[in-house]
Amino acid sequence: MGVWYRPVGDEVSVFERSFSQRLPVLLKGPTGCGKTRFVEFMAERLSRPLITVACNDETSAADLVGRWLVRGGDTVWQDGPATRAVKQGALLYLDEVAEAREDVVVLLHPLTDHRRRLFLDRNDEVLDAPEGFMVVASFNPGYRRGLKELKPSTRQRFVSLQFGYPPEDVEVEVLHGETGLDVKQAKRLVAWATKVRGQDSLALAETVSTRLLVMAARLMSAGLPPRVACGAALVQPLTDDVATARALQDLVDMSF
Ligand SMILES: Nc1ncnc2c1ncn2[C@@H]1O[C@H](COP(=O)(O)OP(=O)(O)OP(=O)(O)O)[C@@H](O)[C@H]1O
Ligand SMILES: [Mg+2]
Repeated sequence: MGVWYRPVGDEVSVFERSFSQRLPVLLKGPTGCGKTRFVEFMAERLSRPLITVACNDETSAADLVGRWLVRGGDTVWQDGPATRAVKQGALLYLDEVAEAREDVVVLLHPLTDHRRRLFLDRNDEVLDAPEGFMVVASFNPGYRRGLKELKPSTRQRFVSLQFGYPPEDVEVEVLHGETGLDVKQAKRLVAWATKVRGQDSLALAETVSTRLLVMAARLMSAGLPPRVACGAALVQPLTDDVATARALQDLVDMSF
């Protein structure tokens, strides 16, 4: 109990009003910027169960809705996560929804617009979603560039919140609150991140996430010297290129 989340902007009130108005929410943003933590926090705040599906390119409508299974000599129906979420009035969190197969979109449309209905293959059954049910999805635009996008007809069914790395003072609070690292050291980590984020010439696939900083902060608060902690938790996860790693480590050495 007690998921900790430090709000960055209006995301809590937007989410709460969306929930009360029965609107689905899409969280956009790069890896490690707090999307999952935020959903966990909101589920607890709204007292709803949370059912998460990590979507990949093989995720199909049947994976979400359920399927007939052969058990012994019988065929039995097994509910999938979307069906369970509708029945329980839960938050259904579809992580990386753009990765999923095309038929997932067909299922999502009637579930996310005013109909709030889930169509089951089984005997043409239809489930009406109860009040507590809500679809939340996440999407990392530009990730694996050009491979998968969300169709406008899907996008325009969702209230959307943009996530990113927070302002410096908020990120310092996140590091301190999450790991207990003292504020002075947390400020140094964030100052390093700000420098790196400002340097396009480093050509990183994805820039420094809050998650990475939390990882470094954990190692530091567990007693590792900052340079060692940052090398292992920041520099190496960010790049395999020797010259780039050297440049990142130099910035660490300057900061600590
Ligand atoms: N606003 C915040 N409040 C508290 N913790 C945060 C916040 N933002 C980020 N974090 C920290 O960053 C970590 C990573 O966040 P999270 O797992 O929610 O990222 P994500 O956006 O879901 O990433 P991915 O797209 O890779 O799934 C969390 O475990 C938490 O420690
Ligand atoms: Mg996540």
